[in-house]
Amino acid sequence: MYIKITFSKSNKTIETIPGSTLLQMARDNNIFIPSPCGGNAICGGCRVRVTKGNDLMDVSAEEYNKLSDEQIEDNWRLACSYIPREDIVVEA
Ligand code: FES
Repeated sequence: MYIKITFSKSNKTIETIPGSTLLQMARDNNIFIPSPCGGNAICGGCRVRVTKGNDLMDVSAEEYNKLSDEQIEDNWRLACSYIPREDIVVEA
């Protein structure tokens, strides 16, 4: 099963097999998402907003540590922790 990831700022849509983090998917497709700590869920610098398809049920402990409750409710995710499992649109 493939899922569709649309990076709205980059105007690019990819189809991929789920299992990778959003940051890895972006890197694999030459889409830049800042990752100051190298994708280790330490800095919070990779936060991105999902505008369609976000599932709040799969927010990770790392994301709860680095994002405020308001950010989580407003569909911000940590790209280095977030593993998309369905079609999404993300501001990146
Ligand atoms: S790259 Fe630092 S928290 Fe994701």
